[in-house]
Amino acid sequence: MTTHFTDKVAVVTGAGSGIGRALSVELARRGAKLAICDVDMHGLAETEALVRGIGGDAKADHLDVSQRELVLAYADDVAAHFGKVNMVFNNAGIAFTGNVEEMSFKDIDRVMDVDFWGVVSGTKAFLPHLVASGDGHIVNISSVFGLFAVPTQSAYNAAKFAVRGFTEALRQEMVNNKRPVKVTCVHPGGIKTNIARNGEQVEGRDHDKLASSFDKMARTSPEKAAQVILKGVEKNKARVLIGGDAWVLDKFVRVSGPGYQRIIAAFSRRNGL
Ligand SMILES: NC(=O)c1ccc[n+]([C@@H]2O[C@H](COP(=O)([O-])OP(=O)(O)OC[C@H]3O[C@@H](n4cnc5c(N)ncnc54)[C@H](O)[C@@H]3O)[C@@H](O)[C@H]2O)c1
Repeated sequence: MTTHFTDKVAVVTGAGSGIGRALSVELARRGAKLAICDVDMHGLAETEALVRGIGGDAKADHLDVSQRELVLAYADDVAAHFGKVNMVFNNAGIAFTGNVEEMSFKDIDRVMDVDFWGVVSGTKAFLPHLVASGDGHIVNISSVFGLFAVPTQSAYNAAKFAVRGFTEALRQEMVNNKRPVKVTCVHPGGIKTNIARNGEQVEGRDHDKLASSFDKMARTSPEKAAQVILKGVEKNKARVLIGGDAWVLDKFVRVSGPGYQRIIAAFSRRNGL
């Protein structure tokens, strides 16, 4: 069966776990040719095995998206390997918890380097190849935390708001400049992945407690998230929200305006977040 994704060359960063893994498997199932990358080679090998298990093919590489020169070289390598690139899912991301007063500049830089600059590098590196393909799509993964802010997530909020601004401007440029590249920004709510377990925090915060309260809040499976993202890609959506929580929070923030901050601050205080 031919799908929207059949024979498209799709790149997925952070493919060794969670949403990136589920996207890779679902893209393979729909007939895409895959370039998958991650810093976690063990997780990436597992994803590659899953893709091969359903008869797909994947070029799997180590890539740290925060290393701009490496991302640029990787984009050329993928284009040379497949002869074209159609889709890039800038998905790799990390979490970090701490108040601004507790965080070092290094902590903030690290989050921005991966979650924001990783997306910028992935976008800029692949954009010429996507234009050359005549049929390109950039999918940048932000978060509901790119729609509203919460205490202890200032660095992550900053990166995810920045991804949203960057991506929404790019989409308009592609339209105005008649480039053959579609652009979608994705805002997942809580997705049951390893993001909190893989995450870091300032000293004195309990990693396991943070991870288990995330596990309680995250309702959507990564497989469902992948399906919602690919449906949004097929429909060329500007913005994709994932999960009932994302829909409710998006509406709540838009209706309450800046007043949301008082309510979320009180919620966080009461729940010891
Ligand atoms: N899980 C959620 O609830 C949620 C909600 C909103 C947004 N997101 C976003 O979704 C994306 C995927 O996260 P996930 O939930 O699947 O988390 P995850 O931790 O399960 O997977 C993230 C993957 O990115 C990889 N990675 C981390 N740093 C990297 C780097 N520098 N270079 C390359 N790869 C790197 C990790 O090794 C891991 O395999 C992230 O951008 C995250 O911010 C997740």
